[in-house]
Amino acid sequence: FTAKRLQGQHLLVTAGPTFEAIDPVRGITNLSSGKMGFAIARAAREAGAEVTLVAGPVHLATPRGVTRIDVQSARQMQEAVQSRLADASIFIATAAVADWRPAEFADQKIKKDGSGEVPAMAFVENPDILAAVASSEPARSGKLYCVGFAAESHDLLKHASAKRLRKGVPLLVGNIGPATFGKDDNALLLIDAGGSKELPHASKDVLARQLVEEIAQRLALSHL
Ligand code: C5P
Repeated sequence: FTAKRLQGQHLLVTAGPTFEAIDPVRGITNLSSGKMGFAIARAAREAGAEVTLVAGPVHLATPRGVTRIDVQSARQMQEAVQSRLADASIFIATAAVADWRPAEFADQKIKKDGSGEVPAMAFVENPDILAAVASSEPARSGKLYCVGFAAESHDLLKHASAKRLRKGVPLLVGNIGPATFGKDDNALLLIDAGGSKELPHASKDVLARQLVEEIAQRLALSHL
């Protein structure tokens, strides 16, 4: 196969955690490093795709030739994704989006008042960016190929297969093994309508190139 497997494609990819503000100095986030999503952006660019990377707060350099949009919250991430969706032919959601955000943002820092009382906090659910994109018209009509990720602590095949159907995506990628967050390597389980396939333990850069090849093959098949 050739090196420019994604020539003519436009990839939109989310990466990293989100940060859900509580007050001007506090918030809720998670330990996602963004490494997998950035590696995918790099690999897809090297494979000839135009790439837009929507990144939560991470400490990573932008891959060469990739357009990057920095966001903080899940809602900002969704807005950025929606604003770039029209151009995209592939959407890959690697971001670890916070499931909930504080129901209210306090304009001023919440202060200890000395009484020993702790603040009560209410949460609301964040939008599911992947599910929304996967149910959009371009995705349903086959113009936009959607890929989701899953991090499960047990029964990966079972839970990831269920997640593929629930999210309505043709390809769901499971992280094999615990605690991939922050690491430079991983192993992946690819699940599509035809079954499952393992990409064995390797660096995230190698896995990203393999995943790009797997996606290119599926796109080629769908255009036969
Ligand atoms: O439901 P769960 O968070 O396990 O699903 C993971 C997949 O869905 C990942 O691809 C993640 O990027 C995406 N997701 C999303 N928006 C959310 C939650 C998850 O895009 N609010």
